[in-house]
Amino acid sequence: PEDVGILALELIFPSQYVDQVELEEYDNVSTGKYTIGLGQQKMGFCSDREDIHSLCLTVAKNLLDRYQIKPQAIGRLEVGTETIIDKSKSVKTVLMQLFQSHGITDIEGIDTTNACYGGTAALFNAINWMESSSWNGRYALVIAGDIAVYAKGPARPTGGTGAVAMLIGPNAPLVFDRGVRGFFFKHVYDFYKPDLTSEYPVVDGKLSVQCYLEALDNCYQIYCEKAEKLYGKRIDLNFFDGILFHTPYGKLVQKSVGRLALNDYLRAPENIRTDLYPSELQQFVNVELNNSYFDRDVEKAFLTASNDVFLKKTKPSLDIATNVGNMYTSSLYGGLVSYLASKSLDDLKGNKLALFSYGSGLAACFYSITIKDIPSLQVLKNNLSYVAPLLEQRVKISPEKFEATLTLRQQVAHKAPYEPVGDISHFFPGTYYLTKIDEQHRRYYEKK
Ligand code: ACO
Repeated sequence: PEDVGILALELIFPSQYVDQVELEEYDNVSTGKYTIGLGQQKMGFCSDREDIHSLCLTVAKNLLDRYQIKPQAIGRLEVGTETIIDKSKSVKTVLMQLFQSHGITDIEGIDTTNACYGGTAALFNAINWMESSSWNGRYALVIAGDIAVYAKGPARPTGGTGAVAMLIGPNAPLVFDRGVRGFFFKHVYDFYKPDLTSEYPVVDGKLSVQCYLEALDNCYQIYCEKAEKLYGKRIDLNFFDGILFHTPYGKLVQKSVGRLALNDYLRAPENIRTDLYPSELQQFVNVELNNSYFDRDVEKAFLTASNDVFLKKTKPSLDIATNVGNMYTSSLYGGLVSYLASKSLDDLKGNKLALFSYGSGLAACFYSITIKDIPSLQVLKNNLSYVAPLLEQRVKISPEKFEATLTLRQQVAHKAPYEPVGDISHFFPGTYYLTKIDEQHRRYYEKK
């Protein structure tokens, strides 16, 4: 099949949030630490009424309904998540409820896990399947979702929650470029979840940032080498109209654009370097990538040098991340939704998008998408017009209640039997929510 890619895209986030300005005050940290230091405005979170099953059911059903996709049209269903509530039973099997009621059980695919990278792995599984001899002519549906919560402390304001559904098929408006993916995988304990009774990760924040930047450097270099060979031209940030990142918090993404600019600078042949770049950068010509992750002078110089690129090519992708927080596996694809929603149809046509996916532990990829000027692009874009108003419809919850909710979630995680108590009045229409967990840990849901 030609032009395999994203035909339909759906995003959900919680109907409640905590304001980061109020959280700064409540946590007794200096004013601006979360909002300026991390670049975050609001953080979506769930009560005990929502879990990874309900989030994925909601986003999958919303996509099938919005695009009127018949259940029998789906040949593969993949889930990427790190929100594990069962050591054996996959979220994919839970989602089969949406299909088995129509007599459909012939659907390949299962869950994929590695921190925030699982969604990208699920997506690549679906694309690879479609480009292989296993393909049966039907669509693939890829779901990425997570509830990102941290123990009280400096990581807590970098939480969030969300889920994305992507319909994959041929002749798509968002086409995955072939032969250019740049990967970086390594064994490291930067962020991991060894305590199976807790939702919280063990996290070495500084190490995770260093790993993220190291992965970015390596993936981008490989992407550039492959793309230069394939397209027969020099590749740098000018090649892209949009540059999208997995977004733990906005500030790290802005620094990442600077990091790519540093990579460009160091990769450029000498004559091009002097022609294209301001002479102030000359002092950084011998900077070593693996020695400069926290070098303030390098960071500052390349943040300044890349500021226009950031504003034009990356900032439009940060709206959801800034207002919902880190959605782990769905974060990068929430960035894609923001980018598509922020541009006019004409501005999007023919765009080349760079995407960087990072999951701690670690697994990462830099790849690209080409936006085709075909009628289904307009359908995709029009169908995302619900996102901005929905963000505004959310209810604000005080930091006290936010903290109490997280404490309750922590106390009742894996409790059985259990009757959830969270308010359902502010849920958006179509939201699945947990009604009870029985003695056998079986979970029951209803739909608003
Ligand atoms: N006004 C403006 N800026 C401020 C203020 C203030 N009042 N106070 C602090 N800052 C700045 C700091 O200078 C710092 O800036 P810098 O990043 O340019 O150095 C920034 O805010 C963060 O403050 P720190 O004190 O350095 O960091 P902190 O101890 O708060 O932890 C961290 C931040 C490590 C990101 C933490 O929130 C964390 O561990 N998060 C989870 C891990 C994570 O997200 N990792 C990213 C990749 S992996 C993943 O996706 C999970």
